[in-house]
Amino acid sequence: MGLQGPATAEWFERGKAALVNGVSSGYRYWGDDDTIVIDRGEGAHVYDMDGNRYIDYHLGFGPIILGHGHPGVAAAVAESAAAGTTFAMTTAREIEAAEAFRGAVPWVDGLRFTNTGTEATMHAIRLARAHTGRELVVKFEGAYHGAHDYVLFSVSGSPVGSLGSRRSPVPFQDSSGIPEVIRSLIRIVPFNDLEAMGQLFRREGHRIAALIVEPVLGNFFGLMPDDGYLDGLRRICDEYGSVLIFDEVKTGFRMGLGGAAAHFGVVPDLATYAKSMGNGFPVAAIAGRSEIIQDWADGGVMQAGTYSGNGIGVAAAKATLDILSTGEPYVDVERTGTALMRGVEGILADEGVPGHIVGHWSMFGISFSDESPHEYRDYANHDEELYEEVIGGMIGRGVLPVDDAREPWFISSAHSPEDVAVTLEAFRDALRDAKG
Ligand SMILES: Cc1ncc(COP(=O)(O)O)c(C=O)c1O
Repeated sequence: MGLQGPATAEWFERGKAALVNGVSSGYRYWGDDDTIVIDRGEGAHVYDMDGNRYIDYHLGFGPIILGHGHPGVAAAVAESAAAGTTFAMTTAREIEAAEAFRGAVPWVDGLRFTNTGTEATMHAIRLARAHTGRELVVKFEGAYHGAHDYVLFSVSGSPVGSLGSRRSPVPFQDSSGIPEVIRSLIRIVPFNDLEAMGQLFRREGHRIAALIVEPVLGNFFGLMPDDGYLDGLRRICDEYGSVLIFDEVKTGFRMGLGGAAAHFGVVPDLATYAKSMGNGFPVAAIAGRSEIIQDWADGGVMQAGTYSGNGIGVAAAKATLDILSTGEPYVDVERTGTALMRGVEGILADEGVPGHIVGHWSMFGISFSDESPHEYRDYANHDEELYEEVIGGMIGRGVLPVDDAREPWFISSAHSPEDVAVTLEAFRDALRDAKG
């Protein structure tokens, strides 16, 4: 694409000299000419080092529900920073943030804070193993639960051709350096197929500690579960005494205050939260039912972290949750998301390009395919090249979704009707260019 202006290119050269590939997280490296260096964000917009402005649907992979640099959140964080942030002792701010969380997600009996989604899912899996005395973990093809060894199999980004047969999926290991024994503890299932899940549990249910699921596949177009699917997972876990973990790192506080559990009316045993809980500040949580999280209190199950519950994270969470609890941001997010979804759909129809809008108004994807995707393997039907070309054209016009369609467009309450109009025009023009 060639996305770097002269100042951005210069900064990226400095970045490469200082950081491996110029990034602090592997997913951020877009190639030597296309990795953008950001100067700042304001509301729904980000600016690169050349002063180019982008309407941002990347939103840092989802957290920025209220817009970049939200003044209320920034003020709470500044106040907390000035008061000192790390004591390795509980603070009043931490308790207030936990109370705000409990008010927003009423099914939860208790929680603890961590800093990242990766830590949260790691701890949830440990709790589930301790609670059940079992070792196997079930996850879905195309689901991402963080960068730790236990879950880095068949994630979004895994080649569809490497997943084995649908009847007996092969865990595709997404990184070197994972011990072979870990691979033997994971079971992989296609999403939206209760029969496949039932078969697995009939075979091995008595060994399954946990079924971890993104209730909406937030790393695959924002694909929604079929009606009743999550209830079916709940029933299967109940039948076999396995722990149902909702990974709400992307859906939590984004699909609505109560996340996917409230949206679908299905209560998990444990759930993990991060991203929209802190509007971009590093704060995460593991929450759940008392009989499972009680294992922390009784001792024997380890959860610890120097920065867990630190002043910055919990101040950001308290401020963000207070604002989200008014309900007002969701009205804006729904208005913007719905307008974009309908607008893109209309343009695809006008231009005669086969495509489907997938997901929820707070995070949705666009599949360039004849049929709407129903599970991760359907990615094979998506026209990847066309999508990349269209998004490349949009970025050139100052609109920034991620150019991998599996990563949804994220919406913030700061996006304006004008942003929507500019975005749809850019989408139409870029699609026309790509069609030739
Ligand atoms: C559903 C889900 N779970 C867990 C994670 C890991 O979170 P983090 O990057 O904060 O470690 C992610 C990150 O994108 C995610 O999308």
